[in-house]
Amino acid sequence: MTVSTSDNSTLNEVSSDNNANPMQSQRYPVICIDGPSGAGKGTVTWRLAQALNYQLLDSGALYRIVGLKAFEAGLIAADASQAIDEAAVLKLTQSLEIAFLPNNQSGRVDILVNGEAVGEQVRNETVGGYASQIAIFPKVREALLKLQQDMATRSGLVADGRDMGTVVFPDADVKVFLTASAEARAERRVAQLKNAGQAADFDAILTTIKARDDRDENRTTAPSKPAEDALRLDSSTLDADTVYDQVKQHCQIKGIFFNS
Ligand code: C5P
Repeated sequence: MTVSTSDNSTLNEVSSDNNANPMQSQRYPVICIDGPSGAGKGTVTWRLAQALNYQLLDSGALYRIVGLKAFEAGLIAADASQAIDEAAVLKLTQSLEIAFLPNNQSGRVDILVNGEAVGEQVRNETVGGYASQIAIFPKVREALLKLQQDMATRSGLVADGRDMGTVVFPDADVKVFLTASAEARAERRVAQLKNAGQAADFDAILTTIKARDDRDENRTTAPSKPAEDALRLDSSTLDADTVYDQVKQHCQIKGIFFNS
């Protein structure tokens, strides 16, 4: 698998080689924003990356792409009734070429897979479910590890995920674990869907969120949890500006310099 970023440079090929110099990923500042989906990680990550002119790693998008492609290849049953073949998902993961292109208009990162835009379809809850099913596989995670670490070898990086501070960048300069109650996150999702003119069932969304949290927090490899040295922040009753201000202040305490 290869991943390229906005400067069109291709990052290193993933291999099963575990001898990469771990310091290689730490030449530039790294800020990790971990936590469950819907806690506000995406917004704070984007704002930090813009303010600092750092690259942005949306690691969830990597797992979503693999999940979606695995579903399209018939490796995941829609009703989760069949066991998933880890070796087949690994092979598929290694065959993908992914490009991340920051989009200033949408405030998100556009994703190209094998030259094709994947668009918003990768962001929906169904694909989030596929992602969390393939994210339990250690070999798939390992295949994605080095390319994530390589993103910190060319500029500062803000990385959003579940295991950024615990596994991918254990020596990061700043670690934040941003959470919120499942109910608050479900309410935000309902509001988001209604704003987009789509139907939204609070109870169904809450059940799906809880199932995904459960899978992510209780898997054996790289479970979603705060690093010991992470700032823990509960955004249940906070607006996005307050969350950003608190995270920014924590970054400054940790020695990250902001121009404004
Ligand atoms: O963050 P997002 O909701 O896009 O992530 C989708 C899924 O990908 C998560 O529920 C989780 O299972 C998986 N994931 C992961 N490790 C990461 C990021 C995402 O296992 N660093």
